[in-house]
This record gives sequence, structure tokens and C-alpha cells, in this order.
Amino acid sequence: MVEEQPSSIILPKYLQEDELSEDVRVLLSTLPTAKGWFVNTIYQYQGFWYSPKQLQGLLNCQKHFQAQDNDILLATQPKSGTTWLKALAFSLINRKNKYPITLNNQDHPLFTNNPHTLVPFLEFDIFHVKDVVPDLSAFSSPRLFATHLPYALLPESMKNSNCKIVYLCRDPKDNFISLWHFSNALRREGSNSLDESFDKFCRGINVGGPFWDHILSYWKETSLLEKPNNNNKKVMFLRFEELRMNTSFVLKNLAEFLGCPFSKEEENQGLMDDILKLCSFENLRNLEVNKNGKRPSGIENKAYFRRGEIGDWKNHLSVEMIEKLNDIVENKMGTFGFRF
Ligand code: A3P
Repeated sequence: MVEEQPSSIILPKYLQEDELSEDVRVLLSTLPTAKGWFVNTIYQYQGFWYSPKQLQGLLNCQKHFQAQDNDILLATQPKSGTTWLKALAFSLINRKNKYPITLNNQDHPLFTNNPHTLVPFLEFDIFHVKDVVPDLSAFSSPRLFATHLPYALLPESMKNSNCKIVYLCRDPKDNFISLWHFSNALRREGSNSLDESFDKFCRGINVGGPFWDHILSYWKETSLLEKPNNNNKKVMFLRFEELRMNTSFVLKNLAEFLGCPFSKEEENQGLMDDILKLCSFENLRNLEVNKNGKRPSGIENKAYFRRGEIGDWKNHLSVEMIEKLNDIVENKMGTFGFRF
């Protein structure tokens, strides 16, 4: 039995629990449950936590998505910098043929569209409707998609194709604080307490969590420790912190990985700086569309732009909380050669 949601929360469509297919309802009745941050009940499916509607999108996507070799997938956990990565990748791959970077006349689609509109999530925006196989013919090549799915749950055709995956993670301390603020921004009244949310996050109970397994699922695809002969050009592994501190360097590498490197001429014209300005937190946050616009789900675009900084956790977490999260990272991820 799927529970009703309290009316105090503005739920994005992909979290709403109406319109579930019968097979998803049957599956739900067999899965472990926990109290969610956004919805009453979340379900653990193959080690990761989802709302019923997300699970439906996930299964639909696994069943029907057919990858093409030149697809590009941006993979993240919620609140690790997805919006920023979408803006950067969209600008990079479309700059030559479709959307030249023009800062002055504001012609570029990012001036009038939230990045989530330009780069849809596979499981939330495309494959979310029950029993519907979406028509993707309108996507121009290379097709650019996003996902919050861990590597293991990606559609098989994606894992077996030559498509490229960019994974962006973020220090879990900042990731947690950002998620906690976001969950409360979606509430009309009341709030998730910091302590209760922190406890859940540390137990891996948040949508798409546990965070450590999510990060490791992509890390293992790139890590030399895991695969000594790894010559993997499929997954590019990025961190929010390096993107924030060394943006030009990362952007250049990202362009190369995506198969659209900067030419000497573009470098001399300062195109990299233009893309960075276009996609900067300050620019995007102050655009009309992101100040007053809404996603079709009802979420206000401004909820995606809070501070955009490294280290806001220092303003919220106690010494014990910091130690606890650091210990989790060390214990769960250290043996795989992963550290923040
Ligand atoms: P904070 O809540 O710490 O400010 P996501 O896009 O995955 O939902 O992540 C949202 C986080 O990325 C928020 O972090 C948000 O402010 C930050 N962010 C959004 N756009 C950004 C940009 N252009 N540059 C840097 N950070 C950005």
C-alpha cells in the first residue's frame, strides 16, 4: 500500500506516487522501506533508496532506453553540482554548430532556460510515465542526458555502448548540507531537522543513497586499483571541489573528453572564459528564468542556486558530525583508494 503524502511538501512530479504501474506496486510490496526526506516512504532497490515514482522511471529506463555510441551521460547524486555540469556540458558540445557562446546579445539558450530544461534526466524527465516508451527522435546528436542512477543500475545498452559518462561527486559534508537545505526549500511548512537528516544520511538513507556506494560505483569504473589494466575512456570522474578551484583546467579536459576540444583560435578568443562566465553561479542565479521560473514539477528554479561554495558545512556541522562523516568516508571508501 503506497501512503499519501503530507500536503506540506511541494513534490516534484518524479517523486509523486500516483500513476504507478501494477508491476511497480507489486515490486514495492517486496522491498525494505524507510521514512524518506521528501516522501513518506522510500524503498531500497538493489542497495539504493528510491521513491516509488523514481523506481518506476528507473525500471522503465532500464527496459526501454537504447544507447547510441555518441551519447553523453552526466551522472551525479542530487546536490553535487548537477545544474552546473549540465550548463557546462551543454555549452561545450553545442558551441560550434548550434549555439555559439554570445554573452552580449544573450542569444544563448542558457539565458532563458534553466539547465535542467536543456539536459533532461533519463529516469525523471524522459522515462517517468508508466508504460510509455518515449520518442527520442527530436534529440540532436550527440544526445546529452543526465541521471542520478548509480553505475550498476544504468541501462545495459548504456554500459555496453561506447557512450561517454561524466560523473561529478562532491564532498559529502557539503552534499549533505545542500540536500538538507533543498529538502526544506521544498516544504511549505515545517522542516526536516538537521540531526534527523544527518542520521539518515550517515545510514545511507536518502534518495539515491548510500552516497558512498553511489560514488564508488563510478569510481570503480575508472580506478586503477580496481582494474589494474584499466584504460577506461568511458567514464570521466570529476569532483565539485576541483571544478570550483580549477575551473579552466577541468573545462579544458572536459571538452577533450567530450570530443570537442578547444582550438588554438578559440583559446585565443577567450572562449573558455566566456563559457565559464555564462555558466557561473553568479550569472545563472541572477537570470530572470532562474530567479522567478519554475520547473514543470513545480520546483522553483532558484532552489538550484543557493551558495555554490565549498565548505558551507563548517557553518552547520558539529565537531562530532564532521568526524562521523569523515570516518564513514575513510571506512567505506578508503580501501578503494578514494578520499576527499
Ligand atoms: P549549495 O546548496 O551548496 O549552494 P545540484 O545541481 O546537483 O542540485 O546541486 C546544487 C548545488 O550546486 C547547490 O549547492 C548550488 O548552489 C550549486 N550550484 C548550482 N549552480 C552552480 C554553479 N553554476 N556554480 C557553482 N555551484 C552551483
